Amino acid sequence: MLRSNSGAEAGTLEEVLIPAKPSNPMKRETVAIHGGYQADPTTKSVAVPIYQTVAYAFDSAEHAAALFNLETEGYRYTRIGNPTTDVLERRVAALEGGLAALCVSSGQAALAYAVQNVAQMGTNIVSVPQLYGTTHTFFAHLLPQQGVTVRFAASDEPSAIEKLIDGHTRAVFCESVGNPAGNICDIEELARVAHRHGVPLIVDNTVATPILLRPSEFGADIVLHSLTKFLGGHGTTLGGAIVDSGNFPWKEHADRFPMFSEPDASYHGLVYTDHYGKTAYLGRCRSVYQRTTGAVLSPLSAFLLLQGIETVALRIERHTENARKVAEFLRDHPRVEWVNYAGFPESPYYALAQKYLNGRACSLMGFGIRGGYSAAVRFYDALQLVTRLVNLGDAKTLACHPASTTHRQMSPEEQRSAGVTPGMIRLSIGIEHIDDILADLDQALHAPNA
Ligand SMILES: Cc1ncc(COP(=O)(O)O)c(C=O)c1O
Repeated sequence: MLRSNSGAEAGTLEEVLIPAKPSNPMKRETVAIHGGYQADPTTKSVAVPIYQTVAYAFDSAEHAAALFNLETEGYRYTRIGNPTTDVLERRVAALEGGLAALCVSSGQAALAYAVQNVAQMGTNIVSVPQLYGTTHTFFAHLLPQQGVTVRFAASDEPSAIEKLIDGHTRAVFCESVGNPAGNICDIEELARVAHRHGVPLIVDNTVATPILLRPSEFGADIVLHSLTKFLGGHGTTLGGAIVDSGNFPWKEHADRFPMFSEPDASYHGLVYTDHYGKTAYLGRCRSVYQRTTGAVLSPLSAFLLLQGIETVALRIERHTENARKVAEFLRDHPRVEWVNYAGFPESPYYALAQKYLNGRACSLMGFGIRGGYSAAVRFYDALQLVTRLVNLGDAKTLACHPASTTHRQMSPEEQRSAGVTPGMIRLSIGIEHIDDILADLDQALHAPNA
């Protein structure tokens, strides 16, 4: 059963998504538009209302106590749950094929909560090396200050990960498609390795999106998103999501994860596995991390992200189609040295793109210009339509120079293992007309020396 923010049962996943036909689950394109919401019973509002409120009135002291004891369904305070955000959470959970989701103020907040929910002082997590720069910074610098070490594998090979797992490991972590390396992780094998050692696999699925890939269908236990990127899709709104597949047997591994099956003194003795069942992980994430540290998504942001999600499937179609044309253009361009694009048969990730992305490589790609760093800067400065910034997944085509921005905190060696070189340009291909994108790239590639 799904649970609302109050923890009360709210119906099966099928009932919430498609009340009329529980035996015929809808496709992702439809879920993106309808998931988690039916016209508001009071106002009949067809669009999801923005409940811009901090608190909710209690009928009585008894009602308030029942809400706080998680005995009745309802909202208490927006730091714990909000009806607009609740719709977003149901929609993202449904898109990912998960049982429940928690939406928070940014992708980084989602990462922090997701990891801290399982890893306590004296434990470790094992990660692939190809990561978004700030995720690397969190793992390499911040988590160790909290007593949690992160072991970076030499590569994204499942065997390299397995070597580093020990009795203190609490999770295996990867990005399904690495930013900016563009590597594609073998999620099924990584999940097998993690589960063999009794730990969950946490996957950041931001770059792929659930339109191209649902990691939980390949064994991932927890799926993260920066909603800021393709799901929101317009570069207007920060947000993050943690999706619980409901599949990891926390009770079976209570020796490693006692926090889910032992009474929690910080929440009047609640036992998460007893109260939340399959969504114990998510329940604790909300009750402990969101409630006490408060990286809350605003209801207005939840609304804006819902608007974006309605068109994500259409946008991804255009993003990936444009990306293929840009990759082919760059591959054939005399001033381009290399292109990382998993849609080319010569890419080391081609087979994984066929398996996990249904043959559609993502619209994030890195490439190198002949002439190294100075040529890359010349190209970058000459762009006119393509925006210079640090973001991805916008409707607009975007360009970033990772070595000097998103991955600046890394040593040259760390940059190399994250797939970043000094002359690399990362493009996030937008949904403009392809002719205009190619014309701008071409004129910038031919830019003369300043
Ligand atoms: C793969 C990935 N995960 C997480 C994040 C962090 O997301 P946010 O900016 O919403 O905190 C980013 C940001 O670029 C990202 O690329």
